[in-house]
Amino acid sequence: MESRSRNYSYAVLVLVAFALGNLATASASDPEPTTTVIPVTNGNTSLPAVPTVVVTSPQANSENVKTSPVTNNDTTLLPIDIYYEGLCKDSVNFMEQQFLPVYNKLSAYVEVNFIPFSQGQFNETTGNTTIHCKRNGECDADKVHACAIKYIQKKDDLVKFIVCALNEGYKNKPNPISVDTCGNQSGVNASIVDSIKTCVSNYTEYLPLLKDDYNKAITEHVTTVPRIVFNKTYTNETENLAESHFLNAVCSVIKNKPEACKDINSGSETIVAGILPILISVYYLIRMF
Ligand SMILES: *[C@@H]1O[C@H](CO)[C@@H](O)[C@H](O)[C@H]1NC(C)=O
Ligand SMILES: *[C@@H]1O[C@H](CO)[C@@H](O)[C@H](O)[C@H]1NC(C)=O
Ligand SMILES: *[C@@H]1O[C@H](CO)[C@@H](O)[C@H](O)[C@H]1NC(C)=O
Ligand SMILES: *[C@@H]1O[C@H](CO)[C@@H](O)[C@H](O)[C@H]1NC(C)=O
Ligand SMILES: *[C@@H]1O[C@H](CO)[C@@H](O)[C@H](O)[C@H]1NC(C)=O
Ligand SMILES: *[C@@H]1O[C@H](CO)[C@@H](O)[C@H](O)[C@H]1NC(C)=O
Ligand SMILES: *[C@@H]1O[C@H](CO)[C@@H](O)[C@H](O)[C@H]1NC(C)=O
Ligand SMILES: *[C@@H]1O[C@H](CO)[C@@H](O)[C@H](O)[C@H]1NC(C)=O
Ligand SMILES: *[C@@H]1O[C@H](CO)[C@@H](O)[C@H](O)[C@H]1NC(C)=O
Repeated sequence: MESRSRNYSYAVLVLVAFALGNLATASASDPEPTTTVIPVTNGNTSLPAVPTVVVTSPQANSENVKTSPVTNNDTTLLPIDIYYEGLCKDSVNFMEQQFLPVYNKLSAYVEVNFIPFSQGQFNETTGNTTIHCKRNGECDADKVHACAIKYIQKKDDLVKFIVCALNEGYKNKPNPISVDTCGNQSGVNASIVDSIKTCVSNYTEYLPLLKDDYNKAITEHVTTVPRIVFNKTYTNETENLAESHFLNAVCSVIKNKPEACKDINSGSETIVAGILPILISVYYLIRMF
């Protein structure tokens, strides 16, 4: 009796140990080490973040990112469509914790398309179209995103602006996003900042931008955000991988694997590492009784 219960506690111990080992494996295979200095940053964040992304000051930031960190001889870029909403916490977290570190490694290989206003609605019953969003202030946030996408041509600058706008918007919700702050953090010039501001307050200008986003989201059957689509083809497996291991997801679909893809575990290796210890502990458990 006693030896049986000792065996039992032993088995539990083994299970716990393997579970812990498993957790450690999972975090060890996490593609983004938390100490890497990343060139493109938002400047600051006050989100209750999980593993923190290294944030550099806006000054350090503008010195760091001028060119993409790697070069790509192959001119075929992987299209990545990101459907999101301006004040959605999951969108903010995804962009900062998953997208940004990977973009810093692979910007030369990808062509990112941002689609804000992915869950917005139009009401055209009165003859004058009105827009509606899930969260208070969200339509105004989406306008800033849509207008920035229209006017910021340099892709690194746009990424910086988008990440800044998501952080600023979320942090100060439902107050309007400061276009000046994000213009400054992304290093775009005053004339671009002015164009964005004018666009945000011009119904005739922003409405078609939002309609365009809306139509894309309808075509893509977006039901939750963020939604990430690689090479115009949605699969829920890649989507699930993208939200937790974005680097693995990108590397699993990219054609000519860049260096940054070579030193990570593939998705399947990660799964094997996750299941194997469980199988081993079950084996020992069965043997014990
Ligand atoms: C970042 O934001 C937090 C909270 O909003 C603030 O306390 C802190 O001073 C900011 N840090 C920088 C470097 O701006
Ligand atoms: C790109 O091309 C240059 C010259 O043709 C070559 O030296 C370099 O190794 C190539 N880089 C990659 C990543 O293939
Ligand atoms: C995207 O998919 C098409 C086929 O639909 C393929 O020909 C192309 O190489 C893919 N592009 C990338 C970058 O993976
Ligand atoms: C659309 O606008 C009309 C008139 O203001 C209003 O009665 C109706 O409830 C609105 N519909 C939606 C779905 O918001
Ligand atoms: C329609 O609504 C928008 C946003 O509320 C407003 O800016 C615009 O002036 C309105 N247009 C007309 C013709 O009422
Ligand atoms: C951002 O603001 C700082 C301080 O106001 C200023 O020194 C810097 O030139 C601005 N950067 C840009 C790109 O406007
Ligand atoms: C602002 O930047 C854009 C794009 O980089 C450039 O085309 C434009 O000439 C610049 N305008 C001024 C006033 O510097
Ligand atoms: C608003 O935008 C429309 C379409 O881009 C443009 O024709 C119009 O001149 C703009 N109005 C103002 C006041 O800037
Ligand atoms: C993907 O979608 C299919 C069918 O819609 C579903 O059966 C499957 O469970 C989904 N897989 C994941 C990983 O969510």
